Amino acid sequence: MKFNFYFRKSSFKKDLSSARLLLSEIEKYKPINFLEVGVFQGVTSRNVCEMLNKIHKNNFKFVGIDFFEDRNLDLDNKEMTAKHNKLSNPIKHFIFNLILKKDLNSLKSVKGLLNKFAPCVELLRGSSDKQLLKVDLQKIDFVFLDGGHSYETVSNDLKILISQIKKNKIIICDDYDQVKYGVKKAVDELKGKVSEIISLNDRLVKIIV
Ligand SMILES: C[S@@+](CC[C@H](N)C(=O)[O-])C[C@H]1O[C@@H](n2cnc3c(N)ncnc32)[C@H](O)[C@@H]1O
Repeated sequence: MKFNFYFRKSSFKKDLSSARLLLSEIEKYKPINFLEVGVFQGVTSRNVCEMLNKIHKNNFKFVGIDFFEDRNLDLDNKEMTAKHNKLSNPIKHFIFNLILKKDLNSLKSVKGLLNKFAPCVELLRGSSDKQLLKVDLQKIDFVFLDGGHSYETVSNDLKILISQIKKNKIIICDDYDQVKYGVKKAVDELKGKVSEIISLNDRLVKIIV
């Protein structure tokens, strides 16, 4: 399946092979209940929903968590999530931000992008430490963890997920290779506490709970 960008920002733009790898893992495990922590503009969410729909028709659930806000400098610096509303392509910036006045990070905008799958989609707005408690994690088959990237946040998100998600379910974490982020430390600390930790490539790491 092709990974589409829908004229939006995504860190997978410069690394299409990781995007394809994530989709191939979804195709392999065929999860029915999927959770993405850190939705951003919804590009991965939409591609995941397309894949889940291809596998299960309308019989799947996608839950996404994010602040769904454009700018929060303190938080973006702490969590190392570079966000700004200025699209790098000046024509796209003109069309989306000046003519359509779309805040591509907003809940409304992401809902619009996922509208095709509306009955299967639930978007929760707020910090992962609070929103994860509202998700029935016992039912979740597959998590893409790509929200806050500080050690405290990744470690706490993983703690909540691993305490509730059933054995042998899958968590894929992004940015394992980013030395300044906290992903590697938080994931490596799980050695011996989960069934397996497998590097899919430099960037993506798979935890089998
Ligand atoms: C790297 S982006 C996610 C990219 C998205 N997964 C994709 O593939 O396009 C990280 C997102 O996590 C969100 N975020 C950061 N810290 C968070 C937290 N503690 N709780 C919830 N969302 C958070 C940010 O608002 C940002 O949109």
